[in-house]
Amino acid sequence: MYYSDDIIEEVRIKNDIIDVISGYVRLQKKGSSYFGLCPFHNEKSPSFSVSRQKQMYYCFGCGAGGNVFTFLMEYENFSFQEAVKFLADRAGIALPEEEYSKEARQRADLKATLLEINKLAAKYYYAQLRQPQGTAGLKYLKDRQLGDDMLRDFGLGYSNKYSDDLYKYLKGKGYKDDLLVKAGLISYDERQGVYDKFWNRVMFPIMDVNNRVIGFGGRVLGDAKPKYLNSPETAVFDKSRNLYGLNRARRTKKTYFLLCEGYMDVIALHQAGFDNAVASLGTSLTAGHAALIQRYVREVYLTYDSDDAGTRAALRALPILREAGVSAKIIRMEPYKDPDEFIKNQGAQAFEDRIKKARNGFLYSLEVLQRDYDMSSPEGKTDFMKEAARRLAEFTEEIERNNYIEAVAKEYRVGYEELRKLVVRMAVQAGMATPVQRPKSGQNREREREDGIRKSQKILLTWLIEDEKLFRQISEYIVPEDFSDGLYRTVAKLLYKQYEEHEVNPAKIMNHFTDEEQHREVASLFHTKIRELSTPKEREKALKETIIRVKNYSIERAGESWDSADIEGMQRLMKAKSDLQNLQKLHISVN
Ligand code: CTP
Ligand code: MN
Repeated sequence: MYYSDDIIEEVRIKNDIIDVISGYVRLQKKGSSYFGLCPFHNEKSPSFSVSRQKQMYYCFGCGAGGNVFTFLMEYENFSFQEAVKFLADRAGIALPEEEYSKEARQRADLKATLLEINKLAAKYYYAQLRQPQGTAGLKYLKDRQLGDDMLRDFGLGYSNKYSDDLYKYLKGKGYKDDLLVKAGLISYDERQGVYDKFWNRVMFPIMDVNNRVIGFGGRVLGDAKPKYLNSPETAVFDKSRNLYGLNRARRTKKTYFLLCEGYMDVIALHQAGFDNAVASLGTSLTAGHAALIQRYVREVYLTYDSDDAGTRAALRALPILREAGVSAKIIRMEPYKDPDEFIKNQGAQAFEDRIKKARNGFLYSLEVLQRDYDMSSPEGKTDFMKEAARRLAEFTEEIERNNYIEAVAKEYRVGYEELRKLVVRMAVQAGMATPVQRPKSGQNREREREDGIRKSQKILLTWLIEDEKLFRQISEYIVPEDFSDGLYRTVAKLLYKQYEEHEVNPAKIMNHFTDEEQHREVASLFHTKIRELSTPKEREKALKETIIRVKNYSIERAGESWDSADIEGMQRLMKAKSDLQNLQKLHISVN
C-alpha cells in the first residue's frame, strides 16, 4: 500500500459506512443494524446488514462483507487505492502524492506485482489489435461478428507474430525475468532461451469479479492446434475458482446464470443481450466454481456444447451444483454446436425460447440414461425404471423427492404409487432408507474436527467484539495465541490490543488486510451466526463450552509441538492445563 496507515484510517473515519452505502442500497434500521437487499447477489428479502457501531457490512446470504473500502472495491470494482482516493475526495481530504518508487514497488507483494504485469500485458495486447500489425487479429474477430463494443468491454487484444514481443515490452518496463515467468507470460528453456507464451493469437484477458486481469486465453486465427492456449495457474490465477465473464454477469438483474464452455460463447451471449453468461473455460466445473456461483444466484442454465463431451460435462456438473445449493436446468442447442453458433444462426429471440424450454437437470439426466435401454421391451423399460428409482431415492428431502417421482411417473407413463414403492424398495436395497453413517476415514474425521474448532474460534471472536464485559471474561482464559488459524490469530491480536488501548474498532482491524478475500473472511468472523440462545443460562453454558473447546485444542497443539528442552514452555503448558480444570468448574456470568 502506498498510503500511510494513518491516512487510510483518517479517510475511513471521515466516511461513515451507513452514509456511503446508503448512496447505493436502500437501508432500513432494524435493532442496532441497518438492513437492505444485498447488492452482491439476488435476493427478495434483505439479508444485507450494515453496522454503524462496527463500521462494517455483512451479508448473511452470500457472505460478502468488509468495511467501507471493501464495499467500494466490490461495488464499483475499485482497487484499494482507488477506493481510498474516492473516499478521500468525498470527505475533502487531500492525499499526498502517490509514490511509485522502485522501493515501493518492491515492497508490494507478489500478487500485486503479478496483477500489475497482467494489466500492462492486457493493455499492450489491446493496443496491438488496433495497430497495423494487428490487422489479421481484428479481421478474425470481425469475421466472427463481434462488435466494437464487445471488443472493448471484454478487452480483447492481439499478441504479435514475434516470439519475444511482449517480453521486450515488459523488460522495458523494468520487470525481471523471474517475475514474468511467475506471471505465466514468458517461458524459458535452455535451447530457445526466453520466449513469449502467446504469439500471433487473439487474446482474451481473463478477469476476476473485480475486473482485475488474472490470466489470458489466446486463440489461433485459423485451424491450427492447439486452438486455445491459456495462462498456467499462477499466484493470482486459480482456474477452479474463477469464471470467465463473472465480472459482468454479477451485475445482471436476472436470477440465474447461463453457464457455457467457452470465451466466444460468453461474448456472443453478452452481445445478444444475455448479460448473465459465464464460462468455466474448458476445465470441468468444480466445487469452487459452484460456490462462487452460489454467491450470486441460486439457479444455473447449462448451455454446454451439444456434442457427447458437452453432454457428459453437463451431467457431471449437475451434482456439483446441487451440492452447492444451486439448481440447474439444461438448454439444448441442437442442431448447433454451441451458443455462439446458435445465436449466429437463429438470433437472440430463438435462444430466449430455448431458455424457456430448458429441461430440468434431473429429468434431462434420465433422458440421456434412457438411450442405454431398449425402452420398447418390457425388460428394458423395467431396468430403466429401476435405475431411475435408484436415482430418485437420492433426493433426501421428502417433498422434493415426491415431486420428482410425480414428474417421472408422468413422463414415463407409470403409476405414481408404483413408482414411489419402487423408490422405497431401491432405497432399502441401497441401504439408504435408514441412513447408515458411512465410516469416516481418519483423515476426514480430523478435518471435521478442525472445521469444528475453527467454527468455535470464530464464535469466540464474534463474542469478543460484542461487548467489553464479555471480552473481559473471555480474555481471562483465552489469549490470541490460542487461535490456530493465522488470520484469526492476527485479528485476535489486533482486537486485544484495541481493548488494551480502549479503542475498539473492528473496521480498523480490516485496514490491516488488503485482499478482498481476507476482508470477506474477517467480516464473517465478526458476524458468526450464533444460535439464538434465549436464556442467560444457555448463553453462559455455550460460552463456557466454547472457551473450553478452544483452549483444550490449543493446549493439545502446544503439547504436540513442545520442545522438551523448553522448561518454561512446559510450565506454561502445565498451568494452562490446570487453568482449564478450574474453568470447567467455573461459573461465567452473561446477560
Ligand atoms: N479450450 C482450451 N484449449 C483448447 C480447446 C478449448 O482451453 N485446446 C477451452 C477454451 O476456453 C474454449 C473452451 O475450452 O473456449 C471450449 O472449447 P471449444 O468448444 O473447442 O471452443 P469454442 O469456445 O467453441 O471456440 P471457438 O468458437 O473459438 O472455436
Ligand atoms: Mn464455438
